[in-house]
Amino acid sequence: MIYMDQIIAKIKELKTKMNAVILAHNYQRCEIQQLADYTGDSLGLSRQAVEHDCDVIVFCGVDFMAESAAILSPNKQVLLPAKDAHCPMAAMVDVPTLRRAKTKNPDAAVVCYVNSSAAVKAESDICCTSSNAVNVVNSLEEDKVIFVPDKNLAHYVSLHTEKQIIPWEGYCPVHHQIMPEEIRMAKQEHPDAEFLAHPECRPEVIEMADAVLSTSGIIERAGKPDVNEFIIGTENGILCRLKEQHPDKTFYFASPFASCANMKMITPSILLDSMEKMQYEVTVEESIREKAKKSLDRMLEI
Ligand code: 13P
Ligand code: SF4
Repeated sequence: MIYMDQIIAKIKELKTKMNAVILAHNYQRCEIQQLADYTGDSLGLSRQAVEHDCDVIVFCGVDFMAESAAILSPNKQVLLPAKDAHCPMAAMVDVPTLRRAKTKNPDAAVVCYVNSSAAVKAESDICCTSSNAVNVVNSLEEDKVIFVPDKNLAHYVSLHTEKQIIPWEGYCPVHHQIMPEEIRMAKQEHPDAEFLAHPECRPEVIEMADAVLSTSGIIERAGKPDVNEFIIGTENGILCRLKEQHPDKTFYFASPFASCANMKMITPSILLDSMEKMQYEVTVEESIREKAKKSLDRMLEI
């Protein structure tokens, strides 16, 4: 039986030996976030993957995040410690269907949320994340935009642009099940609390929010000096950093079911196993990688 302290010590030792960096999304288990060199939202993690001078990126997140790191940094080895950590929303758009939509709308640009496969990114004009989706869409010359795969993020963007948004039928199962009735009840119980929502929530929930932000945006906003209580409309892994960065504030979760099983697959022992065995390496076929990188680079330039 190896104790937790030994696991942590081994991870740190291996990290130095491998010249590795550990990146963790804000929804990861608290133990993993505490072991990471950098925690953040999808945009912040993509930037870190490019900027860190290392040989290996151990990506504690879901598949599309590790894949984005592999697309952006082909000279680094990218490991996803849990090979089954898939984002179900990313599977809600495929290349043949997207090509048909492009043929039907030849004058539209294609904006793809980073929660998508490398092949879909390669087929798109530009990527976006939850923190820059509005800016990305507004930066385009085209008046018409096919927005894949999240219909809820597409709806949120449509509230902040003059452009015609053609939404897709995808959604995040975790955010989509946060119901307006739950927010109404939480607001009644905590009338002084601000309600902060992630843009993957359904439109009726977004309407009730005081602010709509990415995961890192929510963490930052919770530092607002004159507000002490917050109702949080996103995945509950975010509580780790909310509590760490704002120990004097109180947080209520809008929904008890807002937990992403895929984001919780990595434990310290699975992380150690991954580093010892150098598994599971994420690679992207070169012709797809080059095209997908253009969509990601274009986003990072904004
Ligand atoms: P963020 O980019 O806001 O961290 O969101 C990623 C995600 O998967 C939300 O479900
Ligand atoms: Fe995908 Fe939703 Fe999980 Fe984010 S929370 S990784 S969008 S399933």
